[in-house]
Amino acid sequence: MDSTPAAWSQADSYLADTLVGPDADLESALVAQREAGLPEIEVAPVAGKLLNLLVRISGARRVLEIGTLGGYSTIWLARAVGPEGRVVTIEAEAENAAVARASIDAAGVGDRVDIRIGRGADVLPTLVGGFDLVFIDADKESNTVYLDWAARLGHAGTVVVLDNIGREGEIVRDDSSDPKVIGTRDGLRMLGEDPRFDATALQTVGAKGWDGFAIAVVV
Ligand code: DHB
Ligand code: MG
Repeated sequence: MDSTPAAWSQADSYLADTLVGPDADLESALVAQREAGLPEIEVAPVAGKLLNLLVRISGARRVLEIGTLGGYSTIWLARAVGPEGRVVTIEAEAENAAVARASIDAAGVGDRVDIRIGRGADVLPTLVGGFDLVFIDADKESNTVYLDWAARLGHAGTVVVLDNIGREGEIVRDDSSDPKVIGTRDGLRMLGEDPRFDATALQTVGAKGWDGFAIAVVV
């Protein structure tokens, strides 16, 4: 089989069918997101399941998400923290937050999810720390701000996941003028250099093209 975007997407669907399966609440969340005209840039099903597993493997009970969009990844995270757990999720756009609120409530995990509407840079300083896992999936230009807050609001052992570190391979372009590429590279450099983190990153191909995520622990 040729390694083409179509083949990556087919294989991703196969993996999702085999390991994730149908999920009415998550599929409804995606329908609501699309009907509201939000961009279809939520994590792939296999990646949502990975977030869910990382929460469970690490035993995280307090989760922070930066970038709610339509609540798709939020539902994956909220399911994983269990009934006594809490997810705080930050969304800059009130319209997105309203879509997410409805989908999260419909998925039966609304009581665990606190949506804070506002820019990350404004909301993060208002939060009380103690987060066990932080998922950063917002404007890439602010990645270093979000990583700094993840360390400050976390503790030794906090898991940090940073989405979209592959960017179709554009991350190698040290002369890029694309603010998203620059922000991604800045985030990766920080994860490599800042002594508060120990990190790695994995490239992915699949339904979302060629991209990837970084995973770090706060040391
Ligand atoms: C973009 C943002 C995302 O979080 C994502 O998963 C894919 C693309 C973007 O802004 O281009
Ligand atoms: Mg993303």
